[in-house]
Amino acid sequence: MQFIDFWYVVAESRELKANIILQRSILNEWLAIFRDDNGEPVALQDRCIHRHSRLSKGKVLQGKVQCPYHGWVYDKSGKVVAVPSEGNDFIKNIEICQTRHGIVYETCEIDGYVYVRLASNPSEDLQLFNQPFKMPFYKEPGWETMRVINRFHNNVTNCVENFIDIPHTASVHPGVFRNQCRQKLQMIVERCNGSVVAEYRNEINNLGWFTSFLNRQGNEITHTDSFHMPNITSVEYNMGKNRRLFITSQSVPESNDMTLVYTDVTYNYGIWNKFAKPFVWWTAQHIIHQDVEALAIQWEVIQKYGTQFMNTPADTIHVFVESICNAIAQGNDPRKLPNKSVTVNFWV
Ligand code: FES
Ligand SMILES: [Fe+2]
Repeated sequence: MQFIDFWYVVAESRELKANIILQRSILNEWLAIFRDDNGEPVALQDRCIHRHSRLSKGKVLQGKVQCPYHGWVYDKSGKVVAVPSEGNDFIKNIEICQTRHGIVYETCEIDGYVYVRLASNPSEDLQLFNQPFKMPFYKEPGWETMRVINRFHNNVTNCVENFIDIPHTASVHPGVFRNQCRQKLQMIVERCNGSVVAEYRNEINNLGWFTSFLNRQGNEITHTDSFHMPNITSVEYNMGKNRRLFITSQSVPESNDMTLVYTDVTYNYGIWNKFAKPFVWWTAQHIIHQDVEALAIQWEVIQKYGTQFMNTPADTIHVFVESICNAIAQGNDPRKLPNKSVTVNFWV
């Protein structure tokens, strides 16, 4: 198994309009993304085979892309279908045509996102991953989604760990997310089948405006964090009927040190759904900006001194996440790691 075997978001469906071309990068591979004449997304390597200009700087005409340098035209399969300097003498010789082919990648579109997979022959036994991760309750009746996109100067693993890390919240997001309150939490964390799931107990109303507003009675909060290999995290707060919130993040590796994060905040607040929208958006964006800063600092230090992390029991979740990411980096299948379940206590 390798990182290229998985699906990564390259755009929101709504930003990939007809006749435009987007420049993207996944795992250091440059991509030109556009829609073909049926409106289906196409991903070509962002390199013209002629003299290597960037296709993403070109034009899309009726679902085909034209290189900005000498005007070669590529169709959705990556085949060159016109060469201006050959005009009507365009070579149709089959052997030559076979060599005139850009690199094309598999795409799919689901939940308002366009995805690309780089592997042409994904590892066998990856049936589970033939579809991208299903975004919880996206566009389901009673649910609203706010979508925000942020770039982090850090790698995917450190981003993912931040999104499911409780101990930093009181110091990085005081007043907005959580305040230090010397409360003891219990975490049951389990690694199983390429995922990590952590359930928290004893959580009280210390989660910013939305708990004081939505949970005035102080009902018990069920809080679950999960990681799904190789780059998805989902945080769920459940305070009862019409009081549920998911924060699901897809951390897309642009390169070794840049991660583009697509975050869906999906909630069901009953009659407050529409009213809550601007507050949810502001809160999400404010919190994420604080994390962008914290992770940029962490990456600077890692660049200088490397990674020798030190762990406490509260970091158990990160140790499990790292074991999964390391397995993929070594070409192994993390689903073969032994299942583990640990109960730990920590303070916030
Ligand atoms: S470099 Fe693209 S057509 Fe020449
Ligand atoms: Fe954070």
